[in-house]
Amino acid sequence: VAVAKAAAGAAQDLDGLRAALDAFTLCDLKKGARNLVFADGQPGARVMVIGEAPGRDEDQQGKPFVGRAGQLLDKMFAAIGMDRAAPDVADAIYITNILPWRPPQNRDPKPDEVAMMLPFVQRHVELAAPDVLVLMGNHSCGALLGRKGITRLRGNWAEALGRPALPMFHPAYLLRNPHAKREAWHDLLMLQAKLRGANVT
Ligand code: URA
Repeated sequence: VAVAKAAAGAAQDLDGLRAALDAFTLCDLKKGARNLVFADGQPGARVMVIGEAPGRDEDQQGKPFVGRAGQLLDKMFAAIGMDRAAPDVADAIYITNILPWRPPQNRDPKPDEVAMMLPFVQRHVELAAPDVLVLMGNHSCGALLGRKGITRLRGNWAEALGRPALPMFHPAYLLRNPHAKREAWHDLLMLQAKLRGANVT
């Protein structure tokens, strides 16, 4: 992990961080992955979405959230007028994951993998400098809040890496549990209120 910290800390910008990940060899997931999945969207966006890890589609395309869960994620943000391709940073989102390489068969991230890659996520957030973080799902919360239990965490602003962070149900969970979209909608409105500067918690 000390090597990861040094490599991440030395990156001076997002391209440098991507290059540092490309050069990083101490995570076994890399061997089984086709592509590094670094980020997508607008690096200057006010909102940075942090998911869990790439799946098959993401691994193939080298971009986060491009499969079914990603399509739902795009619809969710579109419902509050936000879009990863929006030219204006006020309407844009920036998206990454805790792990930049696909775990075999989409298994859960292992604690040592998360610990190894966390310095890169921390540096990623520093360099992208969003106003708020959206933590998608339990693994993102576990890594960045040190707490799991998404059912209780979601819909409550927390703090991660010195920034306001909103835990939400992962879109893959919403695909399996469509009734939970009601809570996701609530959380999206909370996010929108925060961005508009309303004092809502
Ligand atoms: N699920 C995630 O957590 N991240 C992705 O990029 C795709 C699916």
